[in-house]
Amino acid sequence: MRYSLFISISILALSSGSMSAQNGKSISTSLSNIKLDFSLTEKGSPQYAVSYKKQPVIKTSKLGFTLNDSLHLDRNLKIISIDSLTSDNTWKPVWGEVSQIRNHYKQLTVHLQQNKAPNLQLNIVFRVFEDGVGFRYEFPMQSNLKYFTVKDELTEFNMTGDHKTFWIPGDYDSNEYKYTTSPLSQVDDWKIPLISFGTVSRSEPDQYAVQTPLMMKTATGLYINIHEAALVNYPSMQLHVDRKTFSLSCRLVPDAIGNKAYLRSPAKTPWRTIIVSDKATDILASKMILNLNEPSKIVNTSWIQPMKFMGVWWELQTGVSKWSYSDHLDSLSANGKLIPHGHHGANTDNVKHYIDFASQNGIKGLLVEGWNTGWEEWIGNWNGGHYDFVTPYPDFDVKEIERYSRQKGVQMIMHNETAADASTYDVQLDTAFQFMNANDYTAVKTGYVGNIIPRGEHHDGQWMINHYIRTIEKAAQHNIMIDIHEPVRPTGLNRTYPNFLACEAGRGNEFHAFSDGNPPEHETIMPFTRLMGGPMDYTPGIFKLRNYNPEFPQRQFHSTLAKQLALYITMYSPLQMAADLPENYAAHMDAFQFIKDVAVDWDDTKILEAEPGDYITIARKAKGTDNWFLGAITDEKSRTTYIDLSFLDEGAHYVARIYEDAENADWKNNPEAYKIEQYIVTNKSSLQLNLAPGGGAAVSFTATTKNP
Ligand code: NOJ
Ligand code: CA
Repeated sequence: MRYSLFISISILALSSGSMSAQNGKSISTSLSNIKLDFSLTEKGSPQYAVSYKKQPVIKTSKLGFTLNDSLHLDRNLKIISIDSLTSDNTWKPVWGEVSQIRNHYKQLTVHLQQNKAPNLQLNIVFRVFEDGVGFRYEFPMQSNLKYFTVKDELTEFNMTGDHKTFWIPGDYDSNEYKYTTSPLSQVDDWKIPLISFGTVSRSEPDQYAVQTPLMMKTATGLYINIHEAALVNYPSMQLHVDRKTFSLSCRLVPDAIGNKAYLRSPAKTPWRTIIVSDKATDILASKMILNLNEPSKIVNTSWIQPMKFMGVWWELQTGVSKWSYSDHLDSLSANGKLIPHGHHGANTDNVKHYIDFASQNGIKGLLVEGWNTGWEEWIGNWNGGHYDFVTPYPDFDVKEIERYSRQKGVQMIMHNETAADASTYDVQLDTAFQFMNANDYTAVKTGYVGNIIPRGEHHDGQWMINHYIRTIEKAAQHNIMIDIHEPVRPTGLNRTYPNFLACEAGRGNEFHAFSDGNPPEHETIMPFTRLMGGPMDYTPGIFKLRNYNPEFPQRQFHSTLAKQLALYITMYSPLQMAADLPENYAAHMDAFQFIKDVAVDWDDTKILEAEPGDYITIARKAKGTDNWFLGAITDEKSRTTYIDLSFLDEGAHYVARIYEDAENADWKNNPEAYKIEQYIVTNKSSLQLNLAPGGGAAVSFTATTKNP
């Protein structure tokens, strides 16, 4: 059974109104090492603080809103009542890094009301977990506040010092940046070069705003992650950094006329999340963000199947072939047809070539981009209406591809690039998803490259947040899994919509095709930042790491081949691409074996070691099997690590196949040098792994009955 359900009875203790607080006094709740304090100032302003093992994490910080034009919901408040409860239950995700998730928290709901007209009410709900705190605002149904506009959310996170911070600029339209590591006092977006691909104009007016998930490390060795959970019907939260006081304050992404959100009571905001530990590994293991999301809205989830996929894709990124069919839309042939330029990637024969390779190697899915008309002038025009999502180019035979892929047991993945014209996509959604059902597509990759239409809206504003969710829901109605490129960064909504397998919302491996790429440390930071909100379609598995783009022969990956294998474990996703071309895999079938074998859905995960910006080692147990897989990556420094294999099952023997950087490998001069070794191991064994500069190691542990 693959249903999302509660598998243990909640222990629920509820008390109402039994706690009281006067202005100036604080109420506290703690669980394990985490303590939350809430108080109202003498002037009736709500505030909170968080500590870990008695060390302050968030100093006393403001809460509240400005609504409509001048309704100040951050002062003159009184407490009407306080509820508290404890909840402890375990649930099973449809897919995930682990097969069961414990959701254990203490909840404190503070019911506030203005002490003068219009006497508005506001609730603040805190959940204290063993690994952090989540809180959200609720606007209860009330006659004095029905339809309203959020002008500003005034939430603050006052940090205790000038923490080391891993940040990207607070762009309203893109997360596709390299990370800067600096103290909070050095955050400065305007020193960061504009992203080379994506939006027409940069939308990042606040010089000192950063995106979440924001990862920080204190001088005393605390790891702190700030993000949000369950972003629904509300804009994305960015954080403005006060470079002198180290106060972070909420900046909501505005709409076309500068408002932040349009709500109707009863309404609730997303959860603001603070995850904290003195171990970096605990940050990566945290399930707090998922726990703060609602259970699955999809009842029958049997059609949701994590998978690996290939794509008529990398050859487009690298200029070997093209998305478009013709060089010009305006000059047509004598019979009124597009004149082919002869380099169209998505032609039936080429697609069959990929289907053959995927089928022979047990790769379940195949994505084809550039199959539909509209690619001649798709980028940078902001005029919309490029695509109808149903009309193929003349050399892409939809029915023949359906027949052939079915015969070969490969599932086709639809591609719907919208060029950020979400308005047209909204109108076409039914037609697009019916087309997928009619032609046997089980998943769709959508994309939003460019400036959003409706014009003036942003990728991360309330309008687009609702659009992404409409699309996910529409996909679910059609039993289609979805992977979104260029959306807002995720907030754990894959719990509620398990057909939302992955998204991009970050700087993927593809940047090596069309830019200076990603530095070797990039993948050691992303799990602590972008991936805290959910899986990423990072597109790992590039084997030809130099000379892949005929036009730009100097471009190369900042990675070794062994590291590309390790990314299947360290960059978690239930939808993992084998991104390179079939012929590049054919040249290294021994290394490709790891991609064939590696699972995409897991019963268990052990974060063995991690330090943001430096290294990550993770082991995962493949769902429903006794097999384990391990990935270890490093930044630009070489690294030797000794892995204690005590996580393996007691008493079992395993064939450990180790894919490692060769002695003379390094990302710059010798990226494709690897070696493969095999041993029999048990949970009493240990492994020494040698990672080259920019390198990695991948290990498959296959349970065997053979006792040496
Ligand atoms: C950007 C996406 O990230 C990439 O994967 C895709 O190929 C192009 N857009 C075209 O849709
Ligand atoms: Ca992209």
